[in-house]
Amino acid sequence: MLNISRPRRNRKQNVIREMIAETHLTPAHLIAPIFVKDGQNIKEEIKTMPGIYRHSIDQALLEIKELYSLGVKTVSLFPAINESKKNSKATEALNPDGLYIKLIKEIKNSFPDVICMTDVALDPYSSDGHDGLVDPKTGEILNDATLEVLAKMSLLQAKSGSDILGPSDMMDGRVGFIRDVLDEEGMTQTSIMSYTAKYASGFYGPFRDALNSAPKFGDKKTYQMDYRNSREALREAYLDESEGADILMVKPGLSYLDILVRLRDNTTLPLAVYNVSGEYAMIKAADQLGFIDGEKVMMETLFAFRRAGADVILTYFAKEAAKVLNQ
Ligand code: PBG
Repeated sequence: MLNISRPRRNRKQNVIREMIAETHLTPAHLIAPIFVKDGQNIKEEIKTMPGIYRHSIDQALLEIKELYSLGVKTVSLFPAINESKKNSKATEALNPDGLYIKLIKEIKNSFPDVICMTDVALDPYSSDGHDGLVDPKTGEILNDATLEVLAKMSLLQAKSGSDILGPSDMMDGRVGFIRDVLDEEGMTQTSIMSYTAKYASGFYGPFRDALNSAPKFGDKKTYQMDYRNSREALREAYLDESEGADILMVKPGLSYLDILVRLRDNTTLPLAVYNVSGEYAMIKAADQLGFIDGEKVMMETLFAFRRAGADVILTYFAKEAAKVLNQ
């Protein structure tokens, strides 16, 4: 008998396709990154990220309210710090009256049910544009000296209401160091979503435009991972898990689906993926040129992350995708 097995039978009608679909996506899986800056009533579009804005705190609150009503209840916050406040020690990161801490407090005040994920790295505050402290003589990114600052930042953010800390700096040992300091101070309920496998990537360009945070010299290859490597992601995952991370992240997303699969097979922790700025920009640009159908490609991309093993997706498409999913 020819063709006993005909896979097309399972695709023949929409109801059957829906019945057997292996992968599901809801707004609850999405985290929306939000960029904030000083000021009032500001909503300025980031040129390389159409549809994404730098908000003053009042505008960010409106954005978060809308996201919440669409079912996106977790936001990841990034500050665009005035150049005049940046310095080589990134001291603004520890300012209890600064923009970022004010933002966390206002969000938790206005929307106690919104989950605030906050960023732990020095680059938004550093005049060097690096994630760690720089040795002024050698240009080395100093690991252990940076840990001290990251831990202080973490504690300040946690005490201001952060629900999930996101160390995005890639210093060795930072998850354990931060966890220790949090626990010693009684902040045992603050979660850590570690940027576990974060690669040195060209896909971060538009994000650095958004924060004006590109490195002033060199690159980030002595701390972010080499895109030729995959086993190394397992090593990072093992370390983060043993240091107490609650959720592991792979970043960027699209070019790293193999890493997601590998981590999925090697950890019981939830996995997140960061669908980064350059991935967003490519789809938006091609859509605007009429080269692709942006909405279709957006949904296909987000489902690909879920299929590869991501529980959680950080994506600039959060609002747009939630609208499609709610239809
Ligand atoms: C830096 C940081 C970066 C992103 C998030 N945190 C950029 C970098 O490492 O230079 C990139 C996110 C994106 O591209 O969307 N701590």
